[in-house]
Amino acid sequence: MDFKQIFSCVGTLIIIFFISNCKTQKEEEIVTFKDIAPIIHQKCAICHRPGEAGPFSLITYQEIKSHANKIRFSLESGFMPPWPADTNYTRFSNELILTLPEKNKILKWIQDGYPAGDTSKTKYNTTSVHKNFRKPDLIIPLQKPILVNGNGVDHFFIVKMPYQLEKDTFVQYVEFVPHQKKLVHHVNGHLLKYDSKRKFDYFKGLTHVEEPVENFVETYKKMGLTYTDAKDNKPTSILPVLIPNTVYYLPGFLPLRYKENIGGFYLPKNGVFFLNDIHYGPTHKSCYDSSYLRVYFAPQRPERPVYEGQMGTHGMSKIQPPLIIPPNTIKSFTTTLSIPTTISILAVNPHMHLLGQSYWAFAVTSHRDTIPLIRINKWNFNWQYYYIFKKPVIIPAGSIIVAIATYNNTTNNPFNPNHPPIEVKEGDGFHSMKTTDEMFQFFFQYMLYKPGDDTISIQP
Ligand code: HEC
Repeated sequence: MDFKQIFSCVGTLIIIFFISNCKTQKEEEIVTFKDIAPIIHQKCAICHRPGEAGPFSLITYQEIKSHANKIRFSLESGFMPPWPADTNYTRFSNELILTLPEKNKILKWIQDGYPAGDTSKTKYNTTSVHKNFRKPDLIIPLQKPILVNGNGVDHFFIVKMPYQLEKDTFVQYVEFVPHQKKLVHHVNGHLLKYDSKRKFDYFKGLTHVEEPVENFVETYKKMGLTYTDAKDNKPTSILPVLIPNTVYYLPGFLPLRYKENIGGFYLPKNGVFFLNDIHYGPTHKSCYDSSYLRVYFAPQRPERPVYEGQMGTHGMSKIQPPLIIPPNTIKSFTTTLSIPTTISILAVNPHMHLLGQSYWAFAVTSHRDTIPLIRINKWNFNWQYYYIFKKPVIIPAGSIIVAIATYNNTTNNPFNPNHPPIEVKEGDGFHSMKTTDEMFQFFFQYMLYKPGDDTISIQP
């Protein structure tokens, strides 16, 4: 190839580049509704649709246009979609995020005055998120609807949802179905397994109790949750075995479930799903909530049982220094746990309350390699997900897991419940505590490692 050929070649390339560049620029110039609607339908309308948690629906052209300024603000500030984890650190299968091109497309559409284009070409996504779910095997209603007082403050309830079956079985997963979707903020629930050889009467007693409660044991007795085989048939102070975190809910969150052979648990014929707690956001109109549970049985004993590790408050590892946050300070705390056998981590859940500012968890192997788990640069009390990895994260035997939590107890923290700030520490409750006390917890769901785990997909 001589100089002339090279020149003409480069020239052609320049022309081709110029033409294609012109074309994309021209295409970019006209972002119309049909271009941005699929993004908003897929990434926003799971919550912003009638009957879901979002404060308004984002489906039709009119709906999206009329909230355009708020949408711009929420995208620019990173407030929406709600996904506090840093995606530059680790990625998850359940993440709710916009890619940069998606975000820019929506912002451009708004900036250009939201061109409608031919809206007849837009498909409306009105299918329910439940389309992936089969018919449940068991439905457990609340025994009595819960009255949520419209006094404009948060409400926390301890709730029991008892059931009785003909025989013991296995469960694949449990889905909490909120009734007052705009109010139910989060739910954390456990399974109480009753030993058939003992006496109990868990359908009787209080069906739910509003927090804070003074004495947990007395409360559980009044709720009929403790065994009743004391000498005089009175309630004992003994609760049955508890399988933690079998029910979990946040707006937009589907039940924590993995591929068919992973997870699931034994469901005795006598049991109670014990929610401690259901958190209802503030409302100015009193209403009743009749949320319920859908239970999906498993055909057999779980092939790969899933366990849960818990670090920090009430957990297997100590917080250092002790969790005391003086007023007008920003302070960090650490908790570390040694891992004696190799495990495959499936999902993680960091937990703090209102003073939380940032969170970071990782593992360090005995060879001093670091394995990232999660980083949250800007904590948001309202969005505390169980973050599910795409593939198991293998933590070799001899590693330690480290979690570091930073709290902001100054007036610069808009969520600080105290004005002026006061000293805040861990509450001394049994299971549940007030949001104005602090907690530092790190939960991780894991399986015992099997060769090949690092390549399997865990998504259902
Ligand atoms: C997981 C559920 C969920 C998803 C996904 C979601 N939102 Fe929201 N959105 C909410 C909830 C709940 C609120 C009310 C939050 C509050 O007031 O704290 C909200 C509030 C908003 C607001 C109101 C902010 C204000 O100023 O009042 C806007 C705008 C918004 N969302 C836009 C979006 C957009 C755009 C997307 C997609 C890119 C999206 N949301 C995705 C649940 C969601």
